[in-house]
Amino acid sequence: MTDHSVDSNPWSGRFTQSMDALVEAFTESVSFDQRLARHDIAGSIAHATMLGSVGVLSAEERDAIVEGLRTIGADIEAGRFHWSTQLEDVHMNIETALTERIGQAGKKLHTGRSRNDQVATDVRLLLREEIDALAQVLTALRRAIVDLAEREADTVMPGFTHMQTAQPVTFGHHLMAWFEMLGRDAERLAEVRRRVNRLPLGAAALAGTSYPIDRAMCAELLGFEGLCENSMDAVSDRDFCIEFISGAALIMVHLSRMSEELILWMSAQFDFIDLGDAYCTGSSIMPQKKNPDVAELVRGKCARVIGHLNTLLVVMKGQPLTFNRDNQEDKQPLFDSIDTVKASLAVFAGMLPTLQVKRDNMRESARGGYSTATDLADYLVRKGTAFRDAHEAVGHAVRLCIDSQRELAELSLEELRKFSPIIEADVFDVLTVEGSVAARDHVGGTAPAQVRLAVERARKQLQD
Ligand code: ARG
Repeated sequence: MTDHSVDSNPWSGRFTQSMDALVEAFTESVSFDQRLARHDIAGSIAHATMLGSVGVLSAEERDAIVEGLRTIGADIEAGRFHWSTQLEDVHMNIETALTERIGQAGKKLHTGRSRNDQVATDVRLLLREEIDALAQVLTALRRAIVDLAEREADTVMPGFTHMQTAQPVTFGHHLMAWFEMLGRDAERLAEVRRRVNRLPLGAAALAGTSYPIDRAMCAELLGFEGLCENSMDAVSDRDFCIEFISGAALIMVHLSRMSEELILWMSAQFDFIDLGDAYCTGSSIMPQKKNPDVAELVRGKCARVIGHLNTLLVVMKGQPLTFNRDNQEDKQPLFDSIDTVKASLAVFAGMLPTLQVKRDNMRESARGGYSTATDLADYLVRKGTAFRDAHEAVGHAVRLCIDSQRELAELSLEELRKFSPIIEADVFDVLTVEGSVAARDHVGGTAPAQVRLAVERARKQLQD
């Protein structure tokens, strides 16, 4: 203790004035980084264990530290721990409490370490755990989609391009398109996890430390797959956060697209589906209303995560090596991205099984809009017509339908033969929506048989 020490900060030796109250409120992070507490303690236990093993700490000191940290962890979990903004962040709150509890040995915990490598370690530990939790909800949602796709393998609906009726598809096929999107998301998360799962500890402030540390031991104790191999990069890198939020943003983009479709399909104009009451809300003024608010909120929350991605990219842009306090701004966007994507996936996984399909309406709608015109052209091609000529002949037939307000299947054989004399009675097989979807019977096609195969492959994938 020097006599000009001004407060309880660890750096009080260097300072002669205490911190301005506004600055204390401005710089503190404990109000949000206390979420790292469990990981901070795990990191400190590993660090102390390693220091004990290389002889920097005595066995007694090590044991006192580990035991003290455990009791602090228990108190935090029980809500008995007092957090102080004066102590700035989660790291100093815990370290200070440790010294209060165990005395002198507590002051040795920070040997060979800095908050710079400490915080990077904590965030990686937290994110690794959250990625694993996310992977589970993502799987639950993908399961719900597969179940629905199996149920609706034969259901015919209109497929759209430009939001105009294009060709009939099966609803099961449409759902399996969602499954593909989310499958890539799962792969992406697994890839990000590999880069998250590397140990920064040992980098100390930026240059490494002069103590004979054993980084590999720390990595092993904490379950990291490897080390951050350059101390300067280790303390400054936040790529792993950016990669994660980028993956999270893409998940949200996918969910927003699914939401948009559910919202459209539930409108009176489409009237394709209904969602369970438990996942809808009413109107305070219009008694008849049932609104798909959950889907709308997911669509809206997508904006937050895209915003967080932008925030992190800009936080890092132009930052010189190594640690800068800017990096403290990584936490709130990261935490909110995690929470938002997790909640959105969970609510979607619960909502989808409540989806009721109005199959007749879907089929009726698929029959409109001359959706089997391509099938008629393909029919002509199979009978020897060049595709461009077939395209033109069918175009004339569609024109007649528009003028006489009929569908292609409602034209008589004689009328059809005026556009091409090679048309025969079997043409009506391809003009039905069922015939149209059944004909697209190859890997990736919309035929009910292919949907069933896709469902089978999906189930196998979800088992691994
Ligand atoms: N609270 C900081 C963060 O969230 C970690 C502490 C490092 N602070 C410092 N002045 N070196 O990243």
